[in-house]
Amino acid sequence: MADTATPNVIRRADYAPPAFLIDTVALEFDLVPERTVVRNTMRVRRNPDASHASNLELMGEQLEFVSAAIDGAPFANAHAHEHGLTLENVPENFELTLTSICNPAENTTLSGLYVSGGNFFTQCEAEGFRRITYFLDRPDVMATFTVTLRASKADYPVLLSNGNLLEEGDLPDGRHFARWEDPFRKPSYLFALVAGKLVALEERVKSGSGKEKLLQVWVEPHDLDKTRHAMDSLINSIRWDESRFGLELDLDRFMIVAVSDFNMGAMENKGLNIFNTKYVLANPETATDTDFANIEAVVGHEYFHNWTGNRVTCRDWFQLSLKEGLTVFRDQEFSADMAGGATDEAARATKRIEDVRVLRQMQFAEDAGPMAHPVRPESYVEINNFYTMTVYEKGSEVVRMYQTLFGRDGFRKGMDLYFKRHDGQAVTCDDFRHALADANGRDLAQFERWYSQAGTPRVSVRTKYDAAQQRYSVTLTQGYGDAAPAARETQKGPLLIPFAIGLIGKDGADLPLQLEGETKASGSTTRVLDFTQTEQTFTFVNVAQEPLPSLLRNFSAPVIVEYDYSADELAFLLAHDSDPFNRWEAGQRLATRELLTLAGRATTGVPLQLDDSVVAAFARVLTDESLSPSFRELALMLPSEAYLAEQMAESNPAAVHAARQFVRKRLANALRKDWLAVYEKHRTPGAYEATPEASGHRALKNLALSYLAELDDPAEAVRLASAQYDAANNMTDRSAALSALLNAAAANGGSVEAQQALDDFYRRFEKEPLVIDKWFALQATQRGSAQRPVIEIVRKLMAHPAFNLKNPNRARSLIFSFCAANPAQFHAEDGSGYAFWADQVIALDAINPQVAARLARSLELWRRFTPTLRDGMRAALEKVASQVKSRDVREIVEKALA
Ligand code: TRP
Ligand code: ZN
Repeated sequence: MADTATPNVIRRADYAPPAFLIDTVALEFDLVPERTVVRNTMRVRRNPDASHASNLELMGEQLEFVSAAIDGAPFANAHAHEHGLTLENVPENFELTLTSICNPAENTTLSGLYVSGGNFFTQCEAEGFRRITYFLDRPDVMATFTVTLRASKADYPVLLSNGNLLEEGDLPDGRHFARWEDPFRKPSYLFALVAGKLVALEERVKSGSGKEKLLQVWVEPHDLDKTRHAMDSLINSIRWDESRFGLELDLDRFMIVAVSDFNMGAMENKGLNIFNTKYVLANPETATDTDFANIEAVVGHEYFHNWTGNRVTCRDWFQLSLKEGLTVFRDQEFSADMAGGATDEAARATKRIEDVRVLRQMQFAEDAGPMAHPVRPESYVEINNFYTMTVYEKGSEVVRMYQTLFGRDGFRKGMDLYFKRHDGQAVTCDDFRHALADANGRDLAQFERWYSQAGTPRVSVRTKYDAAQQRYSVTLTQGYGDAAPAARETQKGPLLIPFAIGLIGKDGADLPLQLEGETKASGSTTRVLDFTQTEQTFTFVNVAQEPLPSLLRNFSAPVIVEYDYSADELAFLLAHDSDPFNRWEAGQRLATRELLTLAGRATTGVPLQLDDSVVAAFARVLTDESLSPSFRELALMLPSEAYLAEQMAESNPAAVHAARQFVRKRLANALRKDWLAVYEKHRTPGAYEATPEASGHRALKNLALSYLAELDDPAEAVRLASAQYDAANNMTDRSAALSALLNAAAANGGSVEAQQALDDFYRRFEKEPLVIDKWFALQATQRGSAQRPVIEIVRKLMAHPAFNLKNPNRARSLIFSFCAANPAQFHAEDGSGYAFWADQVIALDAINPQVAARLARSLELWRRFTPTLRDGMRAALEKVASQVKSRDVREIVEKALA
């Protein structure tokens, strides 16, 4: 008997092909919110490549079994149980018809078939299809689907499913139907249906081969004025995949549907992408520049899945990064190309910096804790917990390394071979690696370790200049430092690390690069070293002067580089490195080092001070008009409190907050005139433009405003922010002004101006849920003070009539924002944040385990904190562990406490 207290672990090593295959599926839905009847007719046969099984075991959850028939005759040997349906002694090859009932109205998990805003939606990845009908709900079972939807015509005038519309028409009793057919074989996780009162923005475009395609963005009627940007992003995505990868849209019709209750960002269902409204709806009044950029990225991401995920899918869920890492890489490249084309390196660097910042802040932290896992995990309890930063973001870095090794053309050759070999199949990460290796004639056996080793590699660098011989040697050593226990178990040997390097001369210009053994310097001043051994020395010759190394240019591998730069050297790199990523990186290193020193002092109560040379280095960036505004904004933004806390031997959020605030105030006061000048210079008067240039100006201007709000006397900032708030014609400026007002007032426990703006913001956008999410989030992430702790504000807001725990966006806007994005307030010494966290995880666990498990993760690094905080977090984790029911949350808290 299985021990019910220990959830079952699923292991990659246990993979076995399915005993049966399903070739075709015909689904009929009678859609009624509390009682939807599903009739499912399948062509089933034994899998010639699997060992014999006499019983057919179908997965099913939360279903009411009604009947089974084989080849038209009632079948008595069908037994429904908690996990599905067992059909005993089935024939070799047969038609199976099953009828079952589900309850979409009561489905708060948002997995399977559910009702949101009175409309029907589905979410099947990873294992939601089994909540709709009994099935072999695993990605290596691929079938063609025909779907018939029947529903009340008045209540559900629009009926959508995957593929092409075959017919539609009226039925008796005010009902109607639609029949859809998807010509492509697909796994069940890509099935979708939508039914309800929706309208569409439509566009017809011609694809590369001249075929006409119908594009639709479906939304609730009042949101039609917020669909243009999503449609433009979709058209750009279609064009981009044709030109960069030669991949064409393979259906006559492509639909995007927006839904406000959704667990994640969006879902790539074949021909019928379903999106969180947050990643569809935008106009200048309601959406920030960041929202616009995110929409472009997510629309691209889901569209690109049509080839990387749908046409070629995953054999099993351990291969998730095969589609996710690759598709994130593709969406990152798409956004970079949209911003800067193939050649505008500065514009591309902005995107690269933003992506690396996310990776380092989130994925490195994941790798340092109890959830550390390889890009291709070895085991899981609940697959939904493995849609992680590692699978997505580190997975994307792993794919990027192929491109760094082989160049854009070599990468394209590998992609071409991958599709040639595997179109229509469910495959593995190894299949992808082999395609890249074979297309480029290179053995990538060692590269496999990037898929199987967890933890963040560390590369330490030693350099030596021999003036007499004009030789410069760079010795690289790789290892994992003291990795988290979860990561340590997986480590087997050195990685193939593409390590990009440049050498910079005294005048700030790049030096020519000639490695020992080469006859002349190469044309490029950046060299990608093949770093394959635990320790390896690369010697450059004909180096006329002692250079300063520019290491890991453009972040050529997801590693931590350890090298002892002096503060002066970092300031020099910040001013001169030809690699824009490393220019930014130099500033971050400089700031991180200062901030960690200050945080250390803050823990012991020593007065804080910041060297003038550091202020001067930042002043140079602030006033350097030759740099793009978006780059300056990124360079002047200090590393986040969460990132800094994680770098401490013992995380101390209060000390980090004190240090970071001290530096912000110091930079604000010392450079007051420059911030003001930048604020004035980068205004964007006139109509709102969503271009990268205009958004760069807004970003820099609003960063200036946020620094000005730190001034000892914030009166001027308050005046500017109030005026900006009132005059704003776009959400970027309005929300930045509100945020500045809140923060300027924090030290005094609030201000009239801040309260007025908050009230105005609510009234103005009461009917726009996505904007009200921002209203909650701004308050949850605001700076607090002793007389006005943010937890009290958050508790009050939980009782606000607009708060709703069942809506994931709303829950995230208030609860997650506070627990994960306001560390100094959340980690209050009195444990009030942790008690709140425990209550919310337990409440969410009963509603939506996927969302609860995400929130549960915000305490996973608890062992790394100061003793008082550690004890408080452990107690909260134990409380949650003793009360939660879902497999999702149990896996997280049990791993955290193990
Ligand atoms: N495959 C989706 C993507 O990356 C994400 C996804 C997986 C998802 N499971 C989900 C989205 C559950 C919503 C709900 O694009
Ligand atoms: Zn994806």
